[in-house]
Amino acid sequence: MRSMSEDHTHVQEFFTARAADWDRRFPDDGPAYAAAVAALGLRQGGRVLDAGCGTGRALPPLRAAVGPSGVVLGADLTPAMLRAAARAGRDRDGVLLLADVTALPLRSSSLDAVFAAGLIAHLPDPAGNLRELARVVRPGGVLALFHPVGRAALAARQGRTLTAGDLRAEPNLRGLLTRSGWRMTSYTDEDTRFLALAVRAD
Ligand SMILES: C[S@@+](CC[C@H](N)C(=O)[O-])C[C@H]1O[C@@H](n2cnc3c(N)ncnc32)[C@H](O)[C@@H]1O
Repeated sequence: MRSMSEDHTHVQEFFTARAADWDRRFPDDGPAYAAAVAALGLRQGGRVLDAGCGTGRALPPLRAAVGPSGVVLGADLTPAMLRAAARAGRDRDGVLLLADVTALPLRSSSLDAVFAAGLIAHLPDPAGNLRELARVVRPGGVLALFHPVGRAALAARQGRTLTAGDLRAEPNLRGLLTRSGWRMTSYTDEDTRFLALAVRAD
């Protein structure tokens, strides 16, 4: 088993190599991010974290959802992704944090929601790491695990075969979330989007 710091080095190398081209590779995803953010049901003045924000593609719709009085944080482990976010002006919509979402520098129950796009496959200890996301969200707050393509389409793109053990298969993810302080409330896996929503258990 690799240590946590080896996992982080691997993630940073992988995404540093892709940071400059990230937004150009996926130019048409904006509406899908906006729709996924809408599913969080955020209110004006709300407080939300984009965990593994990358180049910050979700930050504009998150800011629109919580308005100028809200709090939008974007946390990522890879400096090159955050630099690309700043170059794209996404730091106008949220505060960019160079931070590890498996050990967040945030107070317990301080947020209304966490949005995480393309993150879960990169987590070294999914149950423990989802528990850390639960820690920073208030009871009744919401988690969205999103990807702009579904599991089958993503596996095909990556040259993988989907197996029954896939982390994001519905029964696996439901159990994982339950063990991590969340209750899954909806699950969508279509060609054009993956979206699982969960509520922070009391
Ligand atoms: C597939 S990219 C998705 C980026 C962005 N959410 C998007 O949808 O365009 C995954 C991102 O998660 C970040 N990441 C992976 N593990 C992380 C961790 N433990 N803490 C913070 N960020 C992490 C990577 O650096 C990368 O930017």
